[in-house]
Amino acid sequence: MPSTPKILILDFGSQYTQLIARRVRESKVYSEILPYHVPLKEIEAHQPDGLILSGGPASVYDKNAPLADPGLFKLGIPILGICYGMQLMTHLLGGKVARATKREYGRADLTIDDASDLFKGLSNRTAVWMSHGDRIEILPPGFEAIARTDNSPAAAMKDPRRKFFALQFHPEVVHTPQGIQILQNFLYQIAGCSPTWDIGSFLKEAEKNIAAQIGAGRAICALSGGVDSSVAAVLVQRVIGKRLTCIFVDNGLLRKDEAKRVLDTFKKNLKLNIRFVDASDRFLKRLSANSHPERKRKIIGREFIRVFDEEAKKVGKVDFLVQGTLYPDVIESVSLKGPSATIKTHHNVGGLPKRMRLKLVEPLRMLFKDEVRRLGVELGIPEVLLYRHPFPGPGLAVRVLGKITKERLDRLREADAIFEEEIRKAGLYDAIWQAFAVYLPVHSVGVMGDERTYENAVALRAVTSQDGMTADWADLPHDLLKRISNRIINEVKGINRVVYDISSKPPSTIEWE
Ligand code: XMP
Repeated sequence: MPSTPKILILDFGSQYTQLIARRVRESKVYSEILPYHVPLKEIEAHQPDGLILSGGPASVYDKNAPLADPGLFKLGIPILGICYGMQLMTHLLGGKVARATKREYGRADLTIDDASDLFKGLSNRTAVWMSHGDRIEILPPGFEAIARTDNSPAAAMKDPRRKFFALQFHPEVVHTPQGIQILQNFLYQIAGCSPTWDIGSFLKEAEKNIAAQIGAGRAICALSGGVDSSVAAVLVQRVIGKRLTCIFVDNGLLRKDEAKRVLDTFKKNLKLNIRFVDASDRFLKRLSANSHPERKRKIIGREFIRVFDEEAKKVGKVDFLVQGTLYPDVIESVSLKGPSATIKTHHNVGGLPKRMRLKLVEPLRMLFKDEVRRLGVELGIPEVLLYRHPFPGPGLAVRVLGKITKERLDRLREADAIFEEEIRKAGLYDAIWQAFAVYLPVHSVGVMGDERTYENAVALRAVTSQDGMTADWADLPHDLLKRISNRIINEVKGINRVVYDISSKPPSTIEWE
């Protein structure tokens, strides 16, 4: 995007690197993340208006510390260093970094001594969030301290002549309440970016790129009903119309009424060109002899590729495969081994493009999830669909523990639907990351009327989380749990016991398998 202002963020392994990128984009300035070791030429080719050096877990004196090319400071581009980024600037520009006698972690009170540029508009005392073991002993030549805390006499510094600024604390986290203002001062005042980037401008640019890439060609897309593939498909269809064919496979492991809902929304309302394949019998047959979680995943992945392949052949000659790859997956592959590189992904259909010799169209590869949702709204996709809880690729197969049968799946679908309905009614759906039922392969004794029963149990799982990496069990109101339990036991044949899962992640995972 040559005409829009752009900020590059060099990643030194901080768990907050992506958060910095999001804050910049929320401020309507386009940003991209590159690994710290990217060649200077590549940085120059981006023609960035400013650079941000992220934090990171290392100390600049570590043997394998990630160091940037010092030539970075000769490009004439405004730079903001954050935490490790500040120490790196100090180290490479002739100052001195040393171990702090006291590690500073958590909230600190910042006293601002110079509010003329980076801190413009801030009160002279403000809370900030620290996380570092090193501190600046001697500022590099040309720099002056502009703010301090009890433990850091130079908690922020600047060299206004070269437009270099640095912060010992993290302006990108919510625990630094005025952090966004500091970042915006850097973006607007210091780097001179105007706030013009938003999802509408992204959409225009994306349409141009799709038209240029696909030309007069044809494309296919595996529609799952999830947010990413849905938004990617609707976006591409806007550009190439019926030359896009979506293939939607019912693997028999979907939630209650899911296939109908997807077809109603995308085929009827949004006029996507969809080939629907009911392959549930095929999947269930393959799964019937297997109860190991990873085997189930493999079988489902492989069978999906077979079905998709067969169906795609019926479409005729196709050149492109549309995929809803998101930015976090793209960044991961280039990031260094810091916490930002350890996010778990599940490559359910990873084999597709290679096998089919198709060129990939990934129109969302520069977007974060929340941006994809906003794009979806812009494209007219209903919000209930865009804001649904994540659903794993292998579907209910990993929620029917052990052996999978149609009967078990049907019971689980009913119990799950009741759980979701009640949580929505209670107004709690959006506050929860995921809520679902799990079918337990155990029988338990009960009484119904005058009779003893010997039937199955389901577990209910509801968790709160930011990103699925860690999670807490949701403390649902007892009367709500009571209602859900009563309804499931009364309405779902074959279930006579309901338990609530009170395990956090880690050490447990969100899914049971
Ligand atoms: P866990 O169970 O690892 O789940 O705590 C973290 C997140 O990943 C989802 N999940 C999957 N998603 N294919 C997927 O597409 C899978 O095989 C898979 N396994 C777990 C899970 O629902 C949660 O959101």
